[in-house]
Amino acid sequence: MKYDYSALEIAFTEAKKWLNEIDNRPVNSTLTYDELKEKIKIPLNKSSISSSEVVTHIIESTKGGLLGNAGGRFFAWVVGGALPSALASDWLVSSWDQNSALYACSPATSIMEAAAGEWLLEILDLPRESSIAFTTGCQLAHFTCLSAARNRVLKDVGWFVSKDGLFGAPPIKVITSQQRHGSVDRAVRYLGLGNKSLSAIKTNAHGEIILSEFEKSLGSSKGPVIVVLDAADLNIAAYDSFSELIPIAKQHGAWVHVDGAFGLFARANPQKKHLTEGIELADSWATDAHKWLNVPFDCGFAIIKDRDSHREAMTIQASYIASDKVARDQIDWNPEWSRRARGVPVYAALRELGKEGLSDLIARTCGYCKMIVEEIGKLPGAEIVWVSELNQGLVRFKDLKPNAKDKDHDIKTQKIIDAVNESGVAFFSPTTWENNLAMRVSVVNWRTNDNDVKKTVEVFRKLLLK
Ligand SMILES: Cc1ncc(COP(=O)(O)O)c(C=O)c1O
Repeated sequence: MKYDYSALEIAFTEAKKWLNEIDNRPVNSTLTYDELKEKIKIPLNKSSISSSEVVTHIIESTKGGLLGNAGGRFFAWVVGGALPSALASDWLVSSWDQNSALYACSPATSIMEAAAGEWLLEILDLPRESSIAFTTGCQLAHFTCLSAARNRVLKDVGWFVSKDGLFGAPPIKVITSQQRHGSVDRAVRYLGLGNKSLSAIKTNAHGEIILSEFEKSLGSSKGPVIVVLDAADLNIAAYDSFSELIPIAKQHGAWVHVDGAFGLFARANPQKKHLTEGIELADSWATDAHKWLNVPFDCGFAIIKDRDSHREAMTIQASYIASDKVARDQIDWNPEWSRRARGVPVYAALRELGKEGLSDLIARTCGYCKMIVEEIGKLPGAEIVWVSELNQGLVRFKDLKPNAKDKDHDIKTQKIIDAVNESGVAFFSPTTWENNLAMRVSVVNWRTNDNDVKKTVEVFRKLLLK
């Protein structure tokens, strides 16, 4: 039987067109909800239609409703693009359609993921004995790491979660930062610890946990403790003081976990690595590949030094699973059962960049962030709130009328962000910093270049000099 694969040709042609034109297409979505809904929410057909008709409709109906975040002028949130080899290998992963839960189901991708994991430990310079899970993102990496943490700190006091569950277990205190990402709260909730278990420590003017407050919280803990530190926070790229905090936490028998969604990759650049000093003393690290490593969504890593605790928290021993003892079965380390081989695009991205290319990417994007913040900051009414050593910065726009208040500046800031986004030239998002609205500048995309920076600053210049 001959199958019709013309839908793949259509998708390939469109993908090339999309990527080739991304620099000249509006970065924002240009259609309204109603306009998109009308094209997309159609009645489901009764009888079958050809696959090429389906794909053509998907291409046509989404036009005007997609963001240009794969391009070089998207600076909202922390969203990377996809390196060509990572994207191409992602297509292959879908075409091969392997269930990479077990070595037996996909020997080659299993070894490829294992190799990518070893390279990661090398470039992030983390304890080489650590185990790695390839999760859907940092959220599930937190979940995986903190599952191991929860089970281990309870085991240390004689409580076995896998067998006994959590009802009646000694309460765990989760000491973390005021600046933590919401995914930490969500992971704590997933794990049945409840957000009441969180003790959020005040941060200093640099967004770092205040040592004395940290010691106070640890000192008042009676039971098991998990500490979650930042590397780096999403507003100002603040890193907690790992070399100071981790040894103290260890003295109290705490498990230390690090949220390094993007900031862990500072370790891949010799000039930025110092920001993470002492981070290797932690027990687990969560990070993303779909941010600074520029692989397609969805891919993150849970890295855990105590392999036994990791495996114990995630493994499933079902008799029908054909386990090859020599090779790695991802099902033993990941929260999912069936899964795509999301480590293959990681393998590709790491090879395409090489150690030097990744280091250059980190340096280049950090440099562009600084440049954008500083150039916008020179314009009338613009104020630099923060320019970090990494890839995050904050800018605020002042209402220049006499006696303008913070509220007026917030309104002005939002107006400028909206106007830039509507221009389609670049895209930014707002955030709240010290109770005021600010515009975040976040640069992680491999495509961002000098021209993107020039075009971006120009659009602010036109708006602010109007
Ligand atoms: C600091 C930080 N932690 C965690 C996350 C969650 O990552 P993901 O969206 O990959 O689950 C993000 C996402 O932006 C982040 O910036």
